[in-house]
This record gives sequence, structure tokens and C-alpha cells, in this order.
Amino acid sequence: MCGIVAYLGKKVAQPILIEGLKRLEYRGYDSAGVALLGSGAIKIKKTSGRISALEGILDEPAAAETFGIGHTRWATHGEPNTINAHPHLDYTCKIAVVHNGIIENYGTLKTWLQNEGARFVSETDTEVIANLIGYFYAKGDEGEGRSQFDGQNKFEWAVQRALQELHGTYGLAIVCSDFPDMLIGAKKGSPLILGVGDNEYILASDAAAIVEHTTQAIYLADNEMVTVGPEGFHTKTIDNVTVAKDLTQIEFSLEQIELGDFAHHMLKEISEQPTALTTCMGGRIDRQNGKIKLGGLAGYLRELTRTKHLILTACGTAFHAGLVGEFLFEQLARIPTDTEYASEFRYRNPIIEDGTVVISISQSGETADTLAAIEQAKERGATVLGIVNVVGSSIARTTDAGIYLHVGPEIGVASTKAFTAQVAVLTMLAIELGRRRHISSDEAGRYIDQLSQIPDKISQILQQSDHIKEIASANIDRDNWLFLGRGFNYPVALEGALKLKEISYIHAEGLPAAEMKHGPIALIVDGMPAVFIATTGPQYDKIMGNIEEVRARGGKIIVVATEGDENIKKHADHLITVPDVPELLQPILTVVPLQLLAYHAAVLRGHDVDKPRNLAKSVTVE
Ligand code: M6R
Repeated sequence: MCGIVAYLGKKVAQPILIEGLKRLEYRGYDSAGVALLGSGAIKIKKTSGRISALEGILDEPAAAETFGIGHTRWATHGEPNTINAHPHLDYTCKIAVVHNGIIENYGTLKTWLQNEGARFVSETDTEVIANLIGYFYAKGDEGEGRSQFDGQNKFEWAVQRALQELHGTYGLAIVCSDFPDMLIGAKKGSPLILGVGDNEYILASDAAAIVEHTTQAIYLADNEMVTVGPEGFHTKTIDNVTVAKDLTQIEFSLEQIELGDFAHHMLKEISEQPTALTTCMGGRIDRQNGKIKLGGLAGYLRELTRTKHLILTACGTAFHAGLVGEFLFEQLARIPTDTEYASEFRYRNPIIEDGTVVISISQSGETADTLAAIEQAKERGATVLGIVNVVGSSIARTTDAGIYLHVGPEIGVASTKAFTAQVAVLTMLAIELGRRRHISSDEAGRYIDQLSQIPDKISQILQQSDHIKEIASANIDRDNWLFLGRGFNYPVALEGALKLKEISYIHAEGLPAAEMKHGPIALIVDGMPAVFIATTGPQYDKIMGNIEEVRARGGKIIVVATEGDENIKKHADHLITVPDVPELLQPILTVVPLQLLAYHAAVLRGHDVDKPRNLAKSVTVE
């Protein structure tokens, strides 16, 4: 939930750290800080607020300071004030630490360290890490401890000793004033990548902070650490076993993470959907032969075809994509499918029978609840597959096999292009399994043909952005909205409501339209916006009835309908249209106007669209 970055090289560190933090700011943005080495003692500058606030308190960059660590925070333990901001210094003032994750046994460790004489100034769990390393570092000089680090660098030994005591998750960058040319990084449950440049190293939570300097990197695995020094770097486990790591090419470019002419990353990412989906489906759709090729799952298609039970697990927007997947797998392949919130699945003793396949869905590939659900499923013997965007992420590496979205980095906290790509991947998989199990090749071919036209159809919808802005504007003073859909478009209603909530802070509920009469219809008051997804399909007449029920009670009817549907006009106060596609392909289209509606509402309300309050892009804590 936080972003960490460290630089060790020949250049002045401060501007590099600040630039890196800005690229990681989407991960958390309630306080920030840096620690610099090179001019004697460790120099720490930190503050509550965003990176721009940190810039306001920094000294002029010093030429000697070519080494430093930085942090942008999403608070877990302790309010987001200056004292709780990272970096945290140990009680001996020799060790400084930046941390992404949560230390679960910090209370016990803190009490123990306090009894040993360590002083604490913050309310954070991270200060425990700094003090624990400081404790072992100091203790290492007291004879008994010395033998333990003899032959090994004392700083590295102290870090290992401390890490062995921690329960929880961490991505860490650690420095020691006695070793002004040595950086240590460590990972468990939170991402950490070392960019390896020409005589310089950048350690960061995310490749976004690295690509400007180098595209060569190593990805640490859990319980691994990297030590960078004058002779280069080496990697070990936290138990001091050497591990060899290959350099990997970072796959995205700087251009992909920059705003360009767009006002916000979210708008850029909504607009990118036609090209993103073309890339996502390119090479996977064989239109000529009416086949789908999913290379990442090649070894698992037999098992998938035979499975008696699919479980899709994910959080937030990815969960909504999973719900669409559930409809797809059941309709096209007739495989019993359940979609589960990863946060619930992990704690509820799920039944995993022989032959159950679990598919985890995640943009970031780092969501803690989804990772825990994967562990739970694996422990119970399930094959676990992943649908993930970030290449090399924890979920991509933990699952047995999977499919990458290939939509490029998603920076806006509100997930948009990842959702449509997740649904596209689920659709491709469902068509392929359907073809193998249930539907004819001709039917599969027709869906494949339609699917390949989706990017162009999204482009047509994007042209209605100004019209959708007017709809948002006409209803911008309303504080309660409803999003209603049926069948395949029910998950889209949930997603529309989530988008509006998270960036415009307007209360919204997504519901199956038929459920209204069982309670929620009591909410309707004069002028309350109710967004209906009422595209043509088997439930069209039913949803017309639901629209009338809300209209009769004074609701303001906003409808997403199929192009050419003349009948709908008389039922709607505001109309948005999407091109006609078979019902099972509609969610990829019908969600797009709802993304735009939420975007425009948030801008009209004056909110920071890409960094909504209280949120962070990837939720790497429970
Ligand atoms: O990275 P993931 O797809 O695993 O993230 C899951 C959710 O945290 C994420 O979709 C969240 O709900 C978004 N902010 C929604 O826009």
C-alpha cells in the first residue's frame, strides 16, 4: 500500500528519489519522506501530505549525496502525520528503514525492545523493524553476537536476524550510516524490484520508478533479500542461503506511465481501452479458424475442460469481472462456477473437491487477500490459475499458470482498462472451453468474430464522452445513486456503483434490478438518479418493468441502451447508447459509459480522480 524507492549510484540521489516517489504516488499518498547518505549522518526529511509537500521542505540537493531511500505512505499503524511518516530511524540513529507492508507481531517486539532500552517515537509498526535491526547491530558488538556475523557483513547479518523475528509482510529498503555505500532490500508479501543500471541501482516497489534509469531488473521472491554495495549486488534468503537471480527485461516504457495530453490517468486509461483490448486479444483470437489460443494455459486446458467446479476469486473491480466470468463459464461451457471475494474465501473453510480449479483475477498481482486465497486453495490441492496484468507480480509467480492481460500499466486508482481486459480474457477462455464442451464450432466462431470487433465498438462509445459529462453535470448535486442491471449486466451495475463511489465520493448502490421491489425501492425519492443497463436481450422486457417502477416513484432514469432502440427513449430522462452485440459480450461495452460517468462526476465535484481519498492502487495489506 506504500511506495518505496532507493537509489545508489553516482548521480545526486534526491531528485531521482523524488521522481521515483511521484511515479509510485498512486500506491499511497498521505505522507512522504526521504533519507540521504553521503554527507556524514543519515539526513531525514519527511512530512504529512503528498510528494509536493515533501518537495517544499527539502534542502537543495547535495552533490555528495548519491545514495538514499524514499517512501510514500498509505497509513496502517498510526495517523498520517510527520512523525509516523517514513523513513524511520532506529534508537541508535544508525539504521534507517522504509517499509511497505504490515508487521503483525510489532506489539510484542516493541515491548521487548523497550525493555531492552530501545526508544520509540512513532506509532508505526515500521519503527519496530528499524529498532530491531539497530538492536542486533549493536548487540553484534557485544562479544556473544559477534561470532554470529563473523565472516559476514555485520549490517547484513543484523538485517537477517531482525527479519527472522518478523511476522507479517514487508518490502524494505534499509541503510546504515556505518556503510554509506551499502543498500539492503528485503521482501515478503510486498513487491520489490532491483533495477540494475550502469553503475547505479534503483530498488523500488514497482518498475514505474525504475524504467527511466534502466530496463534490467531482478524481482525478489518472498523471504529474499538483496545487498547492493561497491562490488555489485548479491541475493540471499533471509536465512543467509545464496540465491541466483536472472536479470529480467522490464516490459513497459516510460511513455506508458506518463499522462501525455490527458488530464488524468483514469481518462487516459479509459481512452486506451480499444488499443489495450486489441493487444490483449491479439495473437489469442484466431478469427480465421474460429479458435482461441491461450498459450499461458496450454498445459491446463484438459484439466479445465474436465473440471466439475470453477471458483473465481478476486477483490473489488476484479471481483466484478469474475462475476461476469461466472455467467460466461456457466452459459458457454456449462461448468458450475462460483465467484468469491478473496477476503471471504480465505477465512471460510472452502470446499475444494478433487478437480476443482481456482482462477484468481488481479490487475496488480499483489492484492494481499487474493494472494492469501490462492495459498488457501493450493493448500487444499486445487490447481490455481491467474489472470493478472502486472508481469512478474506475486500472483503471477504464485499461480500454477495463467494469462496476462497485456494492457500496460494501470496507474489510476480506479480500475478501468484492467476490468475490460479481465472480462475479455474470461470471455476468450469461456468460448474455448465452451467449444470443447458444449457449443458448436460455428457458435464459437460467431462469438470470436464479434469479440474481435469489440475494440472498434468501444471507440464509438468513447465519442459520447461530452454527452455523458452533461448527464453527470445535470445530476451532480445528488448524493445517492442506484445502478441496476440484470443477467450479464448485473456485475456491470456493481462496477458502475463502485466507480462512482471511489472517485466522486457519491453514495451509490449496484443491484440486480429485480431486487428493487424487495426493499431498496424504498430509497427512491424525487429526482434520485437510477442508472439502468437496459440493452437488448432476453431480460429486456423485464428491465423495462423495473424502469417504470422507479419512474413511477420519481426516480431520474439514466439508461444505457442498445443503439437503434427507439422504444427506450420514452422511458428515459437521459440516454446513452452502445453498439448491438450478443448479450454475453455486452459487459465489455456497457461498463465504458459508466466509467466515463464516474470520471466526469468526480471532476465536476473537484476531486483528485487519480488519487481518491483513503485509497491506494494496490491493497497489499489485509
Ligand atoms: O490489483 P487488483 O485487481 O487485485 O485490485 C483489486 C481491487 O483492490 C481493485 O480492483 C479496486 O477495487 C479498484 N480501486 C477498483 O477501481
